[in-house]
Amino acid sequence: MKQSLKSTMIAALLLLASAMPAAPLGSGQAASNSPDDAEAPQAWPRQAVRAPRGMVATDEAIGSRVGIEILKRGGNAVDAAVAVAFALAVVEPRAGNIGGGGFMLIRLASGKSAFFDYRETAPGKASRNMYIGKDGKLDEEASVIGYRSVAVPGTVAGLELALRTYGTMKIADVMAPAIQLAQDGFPVSEKLARQLQEERPGLQLFPMSRKIFLNAGRMWKAGDTLTQPQLAATLKRIAKKGAVEFYRGETARMLVDEMARHGGLITREDLARYTPKVREVLRATYESGGHTWEVLTAPPPSSGGVAMIEALNMLQGVPLKGWDDPQSIHVVAETMRRIFADRAAFLADPDFSSVPVAALTDACYARERAATIDPSKASTSKEVRAGSPHECGVPANPAAAPPRVATPGEGHHTTHFSVVDAAGNAVASTYTLNDSFGSHVTSTAGFLLNDEMDDFTTQPGVPNALFGLIQSDANAISPGHRPLSSMTPTILLRDGKLSFVTGSPGGPTIISATLLSVINWMRLGMEAQAAVNAPRFHQQWFPDRIRMEAEFPESMEQALRARGHEVQRGWREAPSLGHEARWHRHMGLVNAIGIDPQTGERLGAADPRDDGTALGY
Ligand code: DON
Repeated sequence: MKQSLKSTMIAALLLLASAMPAAPLGSGQAASNSPDDAEAPQAWPRQAVRAPRGMVATDEAIGSRVGIEILKRGGNAVDAAVAVAFALAVVEPRAGNIGGGGFMLIRLASGKSAFFDYRETAPGKASRNMYIGKDGKLDEEASVIGYRSVAVPGTVAGLELALRTYGTMKIADVMAPAIQLAQDGFPVSEKLARQLQEERPGLQLFPMSRKIFLNAGRMWKAGDTLTQPQLAATLKRIAKKGAVEFYRGETARMLVDEMARHGGLITREDLARYTPKVREVLRATYESGGHTWEVLTAPPPSSGGVAMIEALNMLQGVPLKGWDDPQSIHVVAETMRRIFADRAAFLADPDFSSVPVAALTDACYARERAATIDPSKASTSKEVRAGSPHECGVPANPAAAPPRVATPGEGHHTTHFSVVDAAGNAVASTYTLNDSFGSHVTSTAGFLLNDEMDDFTTQPGVPNALFGLIQSDANAISPGHRPLSSMTPTILLRDGKLSFVTGSPGGPTIISATLLSVINWMRLGMEAQAAVNAPRFHQQWFPDRIRMEAEFPESMEQALRARGHEVQRGWREAPSLGHEARWHRHMGLVNAIGIDPQTGERLGAADPRDDGTALGY
């Protein structure tokens, strides 16, 4: 469909936006109003939203509405996904972005699939020790807040490439809703007002952030209208001229000027050189419940797909009863411990290091790795080293020595959304600014900039500031390199047919949340919403403990402690330069779509942990 969006569509979207939180469109329904870390799950929806044709599941009702409107007007899932991504850049500023990067996994109804990598890159002036002071100590703030934490953004180039390759609409048409939302504004939700309050310490440090997101210090209240005229102008220029405007035009000029003025590293050359990549989808096949399942997932520079396949391989043949069974949690946590040890040693930007993907995802290696798990007792992370990955019949190379260890941090935010259209084309998309509101710097061009530099190994052997991840030297900062990611957009096929579209934000917990959603659907046969609602847990090798959602009962904590695990149920995140202190009950925000194998209906399962919304038609 190559057609201009009618002004009626724009008017309809505006009306919808201004009517928020009114009744949703189509046959969809909004998930419950339970802000993250505030409410227990009793009020969460029990059943996925059903619809015969298309479905969009995102963090934000407005984002889902934009997607569904594009589908209703004949756009395909890629058109809708690109429209949603631009719209979330307006209405979900903590994570939706044009100043960050991400991944988009596409599986077309024809059976073709592709993975778009628009991960940010390190600027040309970046260097290995740029965050290490004269005293040899890591400056943890410099890699997460302010101009020096910003990597070269990839989102605009990646979205344009995905649209041009597999979409059917013009960029101006899919961007029209985002432009309207930025120009005419949208109602601030309670969730957004709360997030802006939490992030005030960081946002107030930067004049444009303070002006736009803190209402020049007066703060936004739920129900206020947030307009973003600078962002609207930038989006209009991109809609008119394409991604080249962002990387070589007026937007590039504005960005480069402010970088030069404030000690940032990004230059004209960095922007002009940025290239999104189309990579081969990572795949694995399993038998479960009498069906053949194919998992399509993220290749490096994501670590997530490799980790997930390694985990699923290790868990093959292991009986899993569910998450009220301590034994099942024990085995999965021990599996996670090992995949994260391997992640630390082997994963990095595949364009610059040789990542042993085939060996890490090989069934023989998984069997050896799984054999090191004691079914009745927790290992210690000190004794679990990275393994010696190899393919069946090929001898192992000597293992990379896992680096030394220190202590962890925690952080937010990224966003995952899923789209399925009437023809059965599917998109799983995860994109991010890294931390919530990224570097907290808003460009004069009206958009927030990422702090993705912290995903590099900022100091070998020392965990990164936001997520406490130990990572290898291969992920060290180097110009043009992509920092290692955990983002794991994933699509499952059952007996060759589209079955489940999933993914999550959450730094390293992305891998666990996405893996658990896949296990819930493929291995445990849960209903789609149940697969999203089910409680989550995470073990990332170091720190040596299982982090569990607060809903797990104390008896589960005790049962795991009895097996030797350190356990943390819910956790407090300390205040930082960027944000106020906060208590976390939950991890991940999985916005998934299942397909009913009997009826073909789309089952929209947005994550109620933070007001996700699935809409269908
Ligand atoms: O790419 C990554 O793995 C991180 N930058 C993702 C950050 C994230 O998910 C923050 N969380 N909610």
